[in-house]
Amino acid sequence: MNTRAQSGGGAVNPGDMNVTRRVACPVAGQSSARPVSQNNSPSERESSPSEQENSPWEVDVEWPLDRRGDVVPEVCTWLREHKPVARVRTLSGDPAWLVSTHELATRVLQDDTFSMSALANPGSRLQYAPLFPASNRSSVKDMVDVGLRETVMQALSPHAVKEVTGDFRRRADELLDALLAEGPPVDVRARFTQPYTGSVMSAILGLSEDHGSLLMSGFDISIMTVPRSFEGAQVNWRKSMERTRARLLAPDAVEAPGLLGALARLRAGKGTTAALDEEMVLILNNLFVAGGLSASAFLLLALLLLMLNRDQMEWLRAHPEAMEPAVEELLRYSLAIGDGLPRIATRDTELGGQSIAKGDLVLVLVEGANYDPAAFQAPQKLDLKRHPKAHLTFGAGRHYCSATFLARTHASIALSAVLERMPELRLAIPAEEISWRSGWIKRTPERLPVLW
Ligand code: HEM
Repeated sequence: MNTRAQSGGGAVNPGDMNVTRRVACPVAGQSSARPVSQNNSPSERESSPSEQENSPWEVDVEWPLDRRGDVVPEVCTWLREHKPVARVRTLSGDPAWLVSTHELATRVLQDDTFSMSALANPGSRLQYAPLFPASNRSSVKDMVDVGLRETVMQALSPHAVKEVTGDFRRRADELLDALLAEGPPVDVRARFTQPYTGSVMSAILGLSEDHGSLLMSGFDISIMTVPRSFEGAQVNWRKSMERTRARLLAPDAVEAPGLLGALARLRAGKGTTAALDEEMVLILNNLFVAGGLSASAFLLLALLLLMLNRDQMEWLRAHPEAMEPAVEELLRYSLAIGDGLPRIATRDTELGGQSIAKGDLVLVLVEGANYDPAAFQAPQKLDLKRHPKAHLTFGAGRHYCSATFLARTHASIALSAVLERMPELRLAIPAEEISWRSGWIKRTPERLPVLW
């Protein structure tokens, strides 16, 4: 059994890959750390009550944390032990509270005092510039507001997913056939996880492969984490909206499978308005982003984690029936969620002994919770037999991920196919040379060249 060491302090990463890169401790005021407030242009929004009380807003740690997805940031332990509700400044220059223990993170996600929809209020504090209307029509509440909840939830239901899982495996095999025919090394991100996820999302939503590829390629821009929006972001968003709008309004859309067909039949049967059409287009595109992005980022990191933990990978290959709990542990262990889950306090309140003012931005640090020793025994250890039910990788409470069956099935099928067909899967480059993408919402390798 291998143990994930924390970054910094000459930490050694799991398995025989032996990652030894040192990472500066990002606690503000220590060694090479620098206060974020000196490095971001301040927001033009008014200061919040908490900011005024604490003026100037002195950050406890730099934010966002390290972009590497193979080593848990060292500062997580420091935060949990010393500042479970810490002050940070976001890329937009806004003050925010960072919540890092399992108990407090769960409380924030389950307590409606901390609102997701308030993020869309004018003047609300931000993590970074919104490059597409993500908080609009991608939450279940938004879908309820426009009367489309039932249709969407049916399309994401286990029943609907089970109808197309044969296609998931066929697509995985098709992609692996091409890799096996070509021979190693190949970039498993460009040649497997991206196109596979694109196909899965296209199948669920009822879009063509080409349409899915176009939406998938837009992620490179649409989920960048930057202080200000820019022209290319709007062009990118318009392009994907136009493509999906044209498809929804096409006469033959009523014959399409998946969510697209269901929405098209709804508008044909009950009549529609331009506004409702726009809502449908937004829902299709936002679901593609929410699902495609999270699912592909997780799958890529899951493959990497298995390669970095060869004993675990061998065990899983020998016990394919254990795929379900194994995926659960990989979810807990994955660092793919590169940012805090954001909420706005809707009233003055208290959290972990800290006063939080109405309007404050609160960020839930998922890796803080998922590596909390108070919630998981020996959390640094990847243990595929663990059954870690209380992890927060799918969130919790009102906004708990709407498609967990789809997410788990997507990963299980792909991992099974790879383990069966690439018995000697391993990295083609030293792990410490992996290039981790910066300025993006997920922690992800730019490329992941593999041998088998
Ligand atoms: C491994 C894959 C996935 C992960 C790790 C993941 C993670 C999450 C998380 C953490 C949230 C809560 C966000 C918050 O509280 O701020 C969420 C919500 C959501 N996810 Fe997923 N997700 C995954 C796959 C998918 C897929 C495949 C879909 C399908 C379209 C999807 C659709 C959604 C939707 C619609 C919400 C919003 C729920 C709401 O606000 O009511 N997710 N997901």
